[in-house]
Amino acid sequence: MKGLLLAGGHGTRLRPLTYTGNKHMLPIANKPMLMYGFDQLRASGIKEIGVILGPLQEGIIDALGDGSKFGVQVTYIAQPEPKGIAHAVLISQRFLGDSPFIVHLGDNLLKDNIPEFAHEFLRSGADASVILTRVKDPERFGVVLVERGRIVKLVEKPKQYISNLALAGVYFLRPTIFPVIEKLKPSWRNELEITDAIQRLLDVGGKITYHEVSGWWKDTGRPEDILEANQLVLKDLKTSIGGMIEEGVTISGEMKLGEGTVVRSGATLRGPVVIGDHSEIGNNASVGPNTSLGSNVRILGAKIENSIVLDGTVIDCSERIVDSIIGKDSRILSSEATVSRGRRFVVGESTFVTL
Ligand code: TTP
Repeated sequence: MKGLLLAGGHGTRLRPLTYTGNKHMLPIANKPMLMYGFDQLRASGIKEIGVILGPLQEGIIDALGDGSKFGVQVTYIAQPEPKGIAHAVLISQRFLGDSPFIVHLGDNLLKDNIPEFAHEFLRSGADASVILTRVKDPERFGVVLVERGRIVKLVEKPKQYISNLALAGVYFLRPTIFPVIEKLKPSWRNELEITDAIQRLLDVGGKITYHEVSGWWKDTGRPEDILEANQLVLKDLKTSIGGMIEEGVTISGEMKLGEGTVVRSGATLRGPVVIGDHSEIGNNASVGPNTSLGSNVRILGAKIENSIVLDGTVIDCSERIVDSIIGKDSRILSSEATVSRGRRFVVGESTFVTL
C-alpha cells in the first residue's frame, strides 16, 4: 500500500500566515500540521509516500527530506495549480502504479486510528473506502447519504441538505479510480472533485465502504479551526519538563517545556501548555490553558490563553491575549508610553487586529 499526502493548495483562508509560509507547516501543539497525516500513513505500515507540493513549498522538503530519517521513502509530486484533490491523485498515477493507496489531506487531523481502517480496506477488496463524521454545517463539506448501511450518494458542498455525514479528508482507493477521474469534468470551482470521482465509481457498480469516526476530526482550513485542533491535540498532553521552572511559579495541568526554556518566578502556567526550546516566560506573565508557544519565544508580562505563537516572537506588554495565532518573529509591545500620541502599527496585508 502507498500513501499520498496533499500539501498543495493556496491556503487563502489562512492569510496572512500563508503569504510567507506553507499552511501545512503551521504548528499544532508545536508539530507541523502536515506531520499528523504523515505519521498516520507511516503507522499504517506504508513505506512509500508521495507528497503533493504546490508553488509555496517552504519548509516541507526541509522537514521530510527523502523520508529516510522516518523510515520511509518520500517522492515529491509537483502540482503547480490546485486543480482539485482528484487531480492530485491523477497526476500521481505513475508513483501509485497498481498499488492500493491512502490519500490524506495535509490539513486534516483525525484522532481515530487510520491503520485499523487501512487493514480492513485491504481485506475487504472494496474499490474505495471513506471516513465519515457528523457535522453541524454540511454545506461546507463533501457529504454522503447512507441508506441501510450503504453509501447511495455523494455531493460536494451540497446547497440543499442531504445528510450531516461529511467526508473526513482521508480516502482509501485503488487504481480503479484513475479511469474514472480521467473522465471527470471540473466542478463549478474549477476543481476535479474526489467526491464526484467516488460518486462515479458508485455509478459504475464500484464497492464503497465507510467508517464513521468515533474520535474527533478537524479540517484546519481556517484560523479558528487551527486553534480548535491545537486544543484537541493538547488534551492528550503529558507533562515533560526540559527547561527550568524557577521557584514561585504557579502551575496547574499538563505541560511540556523544551530544552533551555525558563519560566521566571511569579509567572503562571495553566496547562495544557506546550513551549518549545530556549523560550522565556517572564515574572508576571501567564500562559495557558490551551496554548502552544514555539522556540525562542518571549512572553514578558502578558497573559495569553487559547493561542499559538510561532518561533522567535516577543510579546512584551501587560495585555490579555486570547484566541490568537501570531506568526514568526513578530513583536507585540506595550503602547503605554506612546498611547497618548496614538497606537503604532506595522501591519501586513489581510491582517486581523482588534483593539
Ligand atoms: P482546501 O482546504 O480545499 O484548499 P486550500 O488548502 O487551498 O485552502 P483555501 O481554501 O483556504 O485556499 O484543500 C484541502 C487540502 O488539500 C489542503 O491540505 C491542500 C490540499 N490540496 C492540494 O494539495 N491540491 C489541490 O488541488 C487542492 C484543491 C487541495
